[in-house]
Amino acid sequence: MSGLGFPSALSENVIVLPQTNQLKGLFTIIRDCTKPRSEFIFYANRIIRLIVEEGLNYLPVSPKTVTTAQNASFDGVEFDGRICGVSIMRAGESMEQGLRECCRSVRIGKILIQRNEETQQPVLFYKKLPKDVATRYVLLLDPMLATGGSAIKAIEVLLDNGCKQEQIIFLNVIASPAGIKNITAKFPKLRIVTAAIDDSLDERGYIIPGLGDFGDIYFGTE
Ligand code: PRP
Ligand code: URA
Repeated sequence: MSGLGFPSALSENVIVLPQTNQLKGLFTIIRDCTKPRSEFIFYANRIIRLIVEEGLNYLPVSPKTVTTAQNASFDGVEFDGRICGVSIMRAGESMEQGLRECCRSVRIGKILIQRNEETQQPVLFYKKLPKDVATRYVLLLDPMLATGGSAIKAIEVLLDNGCKQEQIIFLNVIASPAGIKNITAKFPKLRIVTAAIDDSLDERGYIIPGLGDFGDIYFGTE
């Protein structure tokens, strides 16, 4: 694994979590194919929580001053604007809990896109979005960014529904260099927050070293 991938080519809108020993340890568990599924779920959830917390840093804030129990002022900030999540089914649904833990009663839309395993082309089957999605910041959820085909299709759906690139923050666990390149070339103003940029893709469009099929492991359909 190259860790930071190709840092010199990364746009400022691609944010890679700091590669701390904690994060490396979590990845060592979820990438280890000998570990039981229960460990995969537990430690993937921990990585997802870190990604969500980082993603929230890219929401706008305005100054807010409060009074503490010491009758002193504290100059802080509060979030501006409203948010929603949109998960790319099915693997993206694994990230919903992490988002809900940080943002109580957050609205979550769904877009069902499946890769055709033969052609690797993404196919849109279903979408359901908050009616006012165009007025919200959208945290787009999908743990795996391989060719980028699924995410690009999902982003196109959001743009067709009135969202702007600048409003979309794509939260992702593992990306491939090709996936990052394809998305940033098409949507330069969209932000991507990822925990890892891996080395490459195999001939089936799976990420190397990757971890296999995230959705299958997480939901137990492998
Ligand atoms: C996976 C993953 C992404 C997509 C990434 O979904 O969750 O949505 O593949 O590949 P891409 O960048 O080449 O489009 P998959 O189609 O395997 O379905 P799943 O969510 O049911 O596992
Ligand atoms: N989807 C996955 O779940 N894993 C990959 O490596 C690529 C796409």
